[in-house]
Amino acid sequence: MTTDTNTTARTRVLTGITTTGTPHLGNYVGAIRPTVQASLNPATQGFYFLADYHALIKCDEPARIQRSTLEIAASWIAAGLDPDKVMFYRQSDIPEIPELTWFLTCVTGKGLLNRAHAYKASVDKNHAAGNDPDADVSAGLFMYPVLMGADILMFKAHKVPVGRDQIQHIEMARDMASSFNHLYGEHLVLPEAVIEESVALLPGLDGRKMSKSYDNTIPLFSSSAQLKKLISGIVTDSRAPGERKDTEGSALFQIYQAFASAQETATLAKAYADGMGWGDAKQILFERIDREIAPMRAQYEELINNPAKVDAILLKGAAKARELATPLIKELRHAVGLRALASSDHTEASTKTARAAVPSFKQYREKDGQFYFKLADPQGRVLLQSLGFSSPKDAGLAIAQLQQDNAKAMPELGSQIGLGEGVKLTEVAAALDALRAELAEKTKAKG
Ligand code: TRP
Repeated sequence: MTTDTNTTARTRVLTGITTTGTPHLGNYVGAIRPTVQASLNPATQGFYFLADYHALIKCDEPARIQRSTLEIAASWIAAGLDPDKVMFYRQSDIPEIPELTWFLTCVTGKGLLNRAHAYKASVDKNHAAGNDPDADVSAGLFMYPVLMGADILMFKAHKVPVGRDQIQHIEMARDMASSFNHLYGEHLVLPEAVIEESVALLPGLDGRKMSKSYDNTIPLFSSSAQLKKLISGIVTDSRAPGERKDTEGSALFQIYQAFASAQETATLAKAYADGMGWGDAKQILFERIDREIAPMRAQYEELINNPAKVDAILLKGAAKARELATPLIKELRHAVGLRALASSDHTEASTKTARAAVPSFKQYREKDGQFYFKLADPQGRVLLQSLGFSSPKDAGLAIAQLQQDNAKAMPELGSQIGLGEGVKLTEVAAALDALRAELAEKTKAKG
């Protein structure tokens, strides 16, 4: 019998939603609906949570965070998530997460965080405005990727379904896990991002990405009448009924596509070509969305009107999640040396050899199907970055050549690899030396 706390065999899928706003159709199509579908797969174990610590980074309105947490939780359940089948919890109910955040903070290079997109975007904006680079940047924003890393590593997640804008954060979580493991032994699992290719970015009322920050959203749960009214406000071009319409670049068409079957979509495409009027197209879109959402409304309302019920569900979920978090944090505390003074540890010697932090090669495959590698220093700074190789073997050969011939191989491989930003060739040579010394050490230890 598998119970829901038996996590050994199943692939663990984990994702969170930041609790700063009212869930809209973009959240539904991009996060809520796919996670509900994934939770029905018995080969996976789902961890779905309300990222309310993350909310504090962007929002200083307590009532809004509270309301958003209720709305997102109720939406998830109304959309079909079964809290008895998955781990469903609120981040701030798991005190082990901030503790792990600190452990990870101490193994994460500041330089790695300097390169995070969200932080860099704020700095660039300040530059453009002639302000101090860190004006209005909280340390919370800077630390965002570490908190997210703790969310993921706390539950040893294998797969993390996220939007493209979050891929970098998952890579950083991998870096944090490998640094930690490197220093203290194999405790953490390296996660992988999962990008749903089929989940298109949903456009909003004005045609830009549907997002709270553009104020162009359609709430997931509004009355039928309100939904209809909002849909009538989607931008279209000025073509009259009878004129042929383009599906390309039509926000209305893209939203329809996110809800309709392939056949329904083809029918609408034909109607566009035949000159369907915008009013009729909006009516069709309204009916299609309402058909999917209407059956969920009653349960959503019921939960929104009984917040204590949602509290109870979340607390129960947190208790279940902590059955995993508590033993892991205990193990990690011990590993880093936060332990009873009387306890003696016999793994110390191996930890010590592991502590000589060395650079490492990382191989990976990109969307373009090509194989890449990079050489990173122990703090995660990229020293070398390759271009794409057509096979993993070719990439491996290039790595082997670098390891053998050190910087001598550089000119030869010059067309395939480049130095990281601001990196000097001598640094690469030193890193490769360190790596070779470490290999020799290991071989000696084994022999
Ligand atoms: N940062 C994510 C977002 O804004 C939310 C999030 C927080 C998350 N922690 C996570 C997603 C862990 C996946 C895994 O979309």
